Amino acid sequence: MDKLVIRGGAALRGTVRIGGAKNAALPAMAACLLTADAVALDNIPDVRDIQTTRRLLETMGVETDAGAGRARHRVSLRAAEITHAEAPYDLVKTMRASTLVLGPLLARTGRARVSLPGGCAIGARPIDLHLKGLEALGATITQEHGYVLAQAERLRGARYAFERISVTGTEDVLMAATLAEGETRLENCAQEPEVEDLAALLGKMGARIAGAGTPTITVQGVARLHGAEHRIIPDRIEAGTFLLAGLITGGDLTITHCQPAHLKALFERLRQAGAEVRVAGDTARAVAGGGRLRATAMTTAEYPGFATDLQAQYMALMTQAQGDAEITETIFENRFMHALELNRMGAQIRIEGRRALVHGPSALSGAAVLASDLRASASLVLAALAADGETIIDRIYHLDRGYERLEEKLRAVGAAVRRVGNLIPAPKHHAAAAQG
Ligand code: UD1
Repeated sequence: MDKLVIRGGAALRGTVRIGGAKNAALPAMAACLLTADAVALDNIPDVRDIQTTRRLLETMGVETDAGAGRARHRVSLRAAEITHAEAPYDLVKTMRASTLVLGPLLARTGRARVSLPGGCAIGARPIDLHLKGLEALGATITQEHGYVLAQAERLRGARYAFERISVTGTEDVLMAATLAEGETRLENCAQEPEVEDLAALLGKMGARIAGAGTPTITVQGVARLHGAEHRIIPDRIEAGTFLLAGLITGGDLTITHCQPAHLKALFERLRQAGAEVRVAGDTARAVAGGGRLRATAMTTAEYPGFATDLQAQYMALMTQAQGDAEITETIFENRFMHALELNRMGAQIRIEGRRALVHGPSALSGAAVLASDLRASASLVLAALAADGETIIDRIYHLDRGYERLEEKLRAVGAAVRRVGNLIPAPKHHAAAAQG
């Protein structure tokens, strides 16, 4: 299993190009199930979750044509015929967002069988809101052998208010509503830019949607959708991760090809902490200004609030700020696993329920640490960049799910980071089996 070895201490300087948003690309790929025509997507990040989604779609009969080399960020998907309306456990367990196929499969074929995702490292993460939304549109939902079976002759437009805000829940039900008969009114929707991007793609496919990006979305159902071309929005979480990486090293990083308007909540916190953040067009630059940053409280919230997907990285930064920072996580109930690993590196973080109290600044020292989920891994990378000596981060397959060529991008701006394979060579017969 690959590990990252990082020698801390270098201030990151230079420019980093931000890729397409994984969390916008995943629903966009699922949307191809809504039409028999080809859907061509550009600015798709080359990360593990995207490869998993391609495999998932292929098992359903979708023809996928992904570019290679410089064209590797393009993919064309054609669901001429859906041969198998099912998302198997093996794929859903590695990527919860697989449940995004539920709504489109049901709307297109009248039937969808999707494995329940099960427990997840960052909380219970059920899919009850997706199911209730689909039921409101007329689906019959049954559960058997760990799978959810959703069925409907033809979905019917309806009014549905989400009990709580769910990003993929909004996307799933929105996709289903595009092919429902009549009008659907969805209330208490997620306002994330990824939802808006999905609605933009669906609009190009012929869907009639109003209000995406606000709490209320209305959809006039149509009988069929057609093919389209679409460019995925920039990844605001990758963008934020790099800006925080620059700041934790006392460096000066500029990110390009990003959408600064999507990062306002982060910029506000950073400015309050004393950082200088300058935005120009599709670039943003952050520098620590004079001396240490100030500890600054932060509470995660649904968009346009501070993204929970940047909470772990922000916590790493606060270990280097002056004073006590209170960080409150309101979206997921168990998303502080990184704090324990950060403490092993010398941070002083106390967890009290949904609050983390970070006392800084702490001198971090390199250690062997374990990545527990995607964004937790990113926070360990940031801490390692600021630590004295060498940090070895294990289980970096989590990072590969969502960050494209992270170590290459970091090296290009001055970080001492390398990827190493399994340090103990596999016995010969194992190696042969892996090749076969
Ligand atoms: C998406 C993002 C993820 C991000 C999260 C919150 C994708 C592919 N992933 O995940 O990176 O961290 O939004 O911004 O876009 N919940 C329920 N019932 C449901 C659905 C959700 O109770 O049916 C709860 C969850 O347990 C959680 C909260 O609602 O506590 C928000 O989850 P949700 O917005 O659904 O997250 P995801 O869409 O899975």
